[in-house]
Amino acid sequence: MTRYRNTQLTWRDVTPYPLFLNRRALMAGAGAALALSGTRAYAEAEETLDVVPGPYSTDEPPNSWDDITTYNNFFEFGTDKGDPARYAEALTTQPWSIEIDGLVERPGRYALNDLLDGIALEERIYRLRCVEAWSMVVPWAGFELATLLDRVGVQEGARYVAFETVLRPDEMRGQRRPILDWPYREGLRLDEAMHPLTILATGVYRRPLANQNGAPIRLVVPWKYGFKSIKSIVRITLTDEEPLNTWQEMAPNEYGFYANVNPEVDHPRWSQANERRIGGGLFARRQPTLMFNGYGDEVAHLYEGMDLRRQF
Ligand code: MTE
Repeated sequence: MTRYRNTQLTWRDVTPYPLFLNRRALMAGAGAALALSGTRAYAEAEETLDVVPGPYSTDEPPNSWDDITTYNNFFEFGTDKGDPARYAEALTTQPWSIEIDGLVERPGRYALNDLLDGIALEERIYRLRCVEAWSMVVPWAGFELATLLDRVGVQEGARYVAFETVLRPDEMRGQRRPILDWPYREGLRLDEAMHPLTILATGVYRRPLANQNGAPIRLVVPWKYGFKSIKSIVRITLTDEEPLNTWQEMAPNEYGFYANVNPEVDHPRWSQANERRIGGGLFARRQPTLMFNGYGDEVAHLYEGMDLRRQF
């Protein structure tokens, strides 16, 4: 069961958690209806993650489980927002291992279970801002990427961290088409990777990640556009060269390496000044986008002296 070690006023005080559980119980009873939805595997999974509240959580109300698991970008399963929920069940997430290589003290292929051994999962309720100008609030369960990097030991010369998603066209129907240059790749500067806001998530709403959210383990970097938060990671490489990410490679004039949320730097094809919060209904007003997605106090210093229009 979930333990709470300290009292913090959060959305939970106004949105009772049992409502969420009851809803799940109802869903479990409606097996036939569920067979049509991508949430079936989740409803059947009884595992509850042991999660303690972590720092940096927003007190904005999180999106519902339905919002978070049915409106997704995971091009490995198709480009429609509903495709991941429809098709991601085909991905086998157990067993899972991550290759950690490059400038590390203890390189190797690590079983995920071993990597997670002894690591305490925290709840981090973060805003997620997609480069497409929609946003959500997600109650992640995860741990700081720094914890894992410290475990494997970062060598002196390392300056960047590169990530890769699993390549499995048999299970990921989108990978059978050249939508992107598979496998999906991302990267961070080492100081960004070591920042305490940067987490590896293994759960949402204190449940293991649904496949469509990047099971069994995905990156979450809340001050950057969502495409940096790479899903279903199988490789982490420490390097001394800035890695090219998939979107940057596709359209370098539209997507940069940094991809910091910035309302003042528009995408060449649309404004980034405001965003649509998912779940707000058809007539909900758009809301202003915040610099660094509202995490400026924590991260602005990382970019001092940089021209954020040129290094976008
Ligand atoms: N990771 C992989 N491997 N493939 C993807 O297509 N989409 C990214 C990111 N991670 C993507 C990915 C984008 S554009 C966003 S906005 C977020 O995942 C969406 O995460 P969510 O579906 O869990 O909300």
